[in-house]
Amino acid sequence: MAIQTVMVIGAGQMGSGIAQVAAAAGLNVLLHDNAEASLHQGISRLTKSLGRSVEKGKLAEEQKTSILARIVPCARLDQAAQADLVIEAIIESMEHKTTLFKRLDDLCRPQAILATNTSSLPITEIAAVTGRPSQVIGMHFMNPVPVMPLVEIIRGLETSDEVFGQIRDLAERMGKTPVEVNDFPGFVSNRVLMPMINEAIYTVYEGVAAPEAVDKVMKLGMNHPMGPLELADFIGLDTCLSIMEILHHGFGDNKYRPCPLLRKYVKAGRLGRKTGRGFYTYD
Ligand code: CAA
Repeated sequence: MAIQTVMVIGAGQMGSGIAQVAAAAGLNVLLHDNAEASLHQGISRLTKSLGRSVEKGKLAEEQKTSILARIVPCARLDQAAQADLVIEAIIESMEHKTTLFKRLDDLCRPQAILATNTSSLPITEIAAVTGRPSQVIGMHFMNPVPVMPLVEIIRGLETSDEVFGQIRDLAERMGKTPVEVNDFPGFVSNRVLMPMINEAIYTVYEGVAAPEAVDKVMKLGMNHPMGPLELADFIGLDTCLSIMEILHHGFGDNKYRPCPLLRKYVKAGRLGRKTGRGFYTYD
């Protein structure tokens, strides 16, 4: 089956980015969100992103128009019946994801593939609520999606070789570099990245250094494009906490214990850039 129509579910930062790169690759995209305001915001975010590429001379105005014409905002989930592939990019909640995958299993054509952009939840467990576990797979994009070349492709226990091959080829068609990973908590990206961010938060918590100093050390000393605390604010401190909890719970090892300062910030609503305040303050 050639993948031609993709439904992206969740029009947040990740979902709108995925819709943008899929449409830029020539795919027909149905962008769904259950909140109308988020759907509008997602379309406006990706329109702005394409507009910036036009301003920089990286994209012609006509290309922008044709990319946008390939993205159809959908208020109704049952339009998933038209899709060859669904990429879910909703909140990181097992309950929300399994409820959605059960509905998608009923709505989608039998041959359709169901992918999740989860950053750390088990693919095998999500697949198990459907009647098609061999057609369920993890497709983990990085933020900002239009810029970052990686897609981690995670095989669930039952994912077929055929489905894996189709998704790997599709990621390449979308201009990304796929890397195959097995289904364990945090996969590779967040198993390595999040403990580093958590440790950076511990250095602030224990008074080793101020956030600016920690970030400067990592940027100037290790050539990281963003310091770990700046990156945590960019990802969202609530997302960082939820990934650390998944690692802690999944491995049962204290080395993954979330820093109390991270918990405190999340409880206070200091979630990073999206709320205007995290380790830093934003306008
Ligand atoms: N959307 C689209 N394009 C964006 C963008 C966005 N949100 N942010 C930056 N860009 C583009 C810019 O337009 C610019 O494009 P050109 O080269 O065409 O001019 C390019 O990216 C570089 O941007 P800037 O010059 O403004 O700034 P920069 O050089 O500091 O790069 C960055 C910005 C790419 C975000 C860089 O700081 C970076 O790589 N940071 C680390 C990002 C990272 O680690 N992401 C992974 C997070 S973890 C994750 O996503 C997984 C998870 O599960 C939590």
